[in-house]
Amino acid sequence: FQVPSAINETIKTYAPGSPERDSIEKMYKKLYNQKAEIPLYIGDKEIKTGNTKSIRPPHDHQHEVGIYHTADEQHVEQAIDTALEARKEWAKLPWEQRAAVFLKAADLISGPYRDKMNATTMIGQSKTVFQAEIDSACEICDFLRFNVEYMTEIYREQPESADNEWNRLEHRPLEGFVYAITPFNFTAIAGNLPSSAALMGNVAVWKPSDSQMLSAQVIMEVFKEAGLPDGVINMIIGDPVMITDKILARKEFAGIHFTGSTNVFKDIWSKIGQNIHNYNTYPRIVGETGGKDFIVAHKSADAQVVATALLRGAFEFQGQKCSAASRSYISNSLWPSVKEKLVKDVKSIKMGPTGDLSNFMGAVIHEQSFDKLSSYIERAKKSDEAEIIVGGNCDKSKGYFVEPTVIVTTNPNYETMVEELFGPVLTLYVYDDEKYEETLHLVDNTSQYGLTGSIISTDRYAASVATDILQNSAGNFYINDKCTGAVVGRQPFGGARNSGTNDKAGSKFNLLRWSSPRLIKETF
Ligand code: ALA
Repeated sequence: FQVPSAINETIKTYAPGSPERDSIEKMYKKLYNQKAEIPLYIGDKEIKTGNTKSIRPPHDHQHEVGIYHTADEQHVEQAIDTALEARKEWAKLPWEQRAAVFLKAADLISGPYRDKMNATTMIGQSKTVFQAEIDSACEICDFLRFNVEYMTEIYREQPESADNEWNRLEHRPLEGFVYAITPFNFTAIAGNLPSSAALMGNVAVWKPSDSQMLSAQVIMEVFKEAGLPDGVINMIIGDPVMITDKILARKEFAGIHFTGSTNVFKDIWSKIGQNIHNYNTYPRIVGETGGKDFIVAHKSADAQVVATALLRGAFEFQGQKCSAASRSYISNSLWPSVKEKLVKDVKSIKMGPTGDLSNFMGAVIHEQSFDKLSSYIERAKKSDEAEIIVGGNCDKSKGYFVEPTVIVTTNPNYETMVEELFGPVLTLYVYDDEKYEETLHLVDNTSQYGLTGSIISTDRYAASVATDILQNSAGNFYINDKCTGAVVGRQPFGGARNSGTNDKAGSKFNLLRWSSPRLIKETF
């Protein structure tokens, strides 16, 4: 069969006066004044355990918008058993039936569920309407549709056959179940990690982030309405260590699809190691973790291009992207004009509750994140090695608001140049024009991460030197752009070092990890 050719979902503008703006405002208000109640989804059951936690918008933390029920040990076992039961049918289903479920899910998100996906992302994760649109409407549809196309390409690639034989490669799902752990910062990732494994015939136990529950529930609703059979993806939430320990102790555990912090991923990897003798099969370990992503500006760059890349790379999405620009290296001859433009532009950023569609930034996700960011900012205020040139105010009285903040440091190893903060804080180091190559080595050696980075230069030779020296510093490397905003189908996304297993979300590389191929040789 031929599947519909995937194209990227068109981004709506939500311009003042547009019908989509009116519609999202109404949906936002409606959901803001409702109390969602989110159960566990195990097979055909929606389980209300009675152990509940409150959901509050990060930009208005006194206002409850819902509750979610949490799992205990028995629910984790139940989710695994249910998944394994569902596997019996799902793994045998012709691939086009699986594809149809996820193509329909994309159409539902693109159409009738678009406002609900976006509004829950705006309320629960404090994303602005544009951030939500890019994530919970467009990127999630792109993952679903492009993955279907990639799957068919994978299936088409077949080995040669000699006379009197026919060799065929069959892509079987893994023998067991996949555990998907997803983060708060992208609704699209929450949709992608369980579904990409399921598309390849696997069953999954999915643990979303407890800071993403509102939109996670909509994803489950969409999958169900799209015809996903019960038990193929089971959503549970609760004590993450308990859930993970229970899952990793099961002999049928066949793989993990993870996006989250480096430390949690390493802990999981080592627990898998401790359990390795128990498993029926070697588990697949696929993870995308942290980043300390950079923008390097060569002296030949245009100052406004640099300032815009810095602002967008560092502060869009409240800086809560694993790809966000958080350290930058600017040539000293360029610095005065970059500084002037950057400070002016950052001062124009409007931050506030995401129900006001004119805001460019919302709040950071929770109090823990706010406290971490504000402690780095307070230390910078007192440090001899750091100067805050714009921003620096933090206020959690109503919501967790951290002003977009730019720190300039004289120490390339200053703590905010090295550590991942995951918020709207950018640190800059001004280097001597004459020390360009030396600086590139510094960029490479400063961080143990390897996710994204960019070089901004109109000098082709300088760009080439950077591309060469920084080969392991960024799995996604950009020339003359910010280091964020990978689009499914165009820039497969992921990095190595402490940033992950570099299996490139939204690509054939990723889907292949969820296949256990069988080669059949038939002799005539
Ligand atoms: N894929 C997202 C980006 O590239 C995280 O910014």
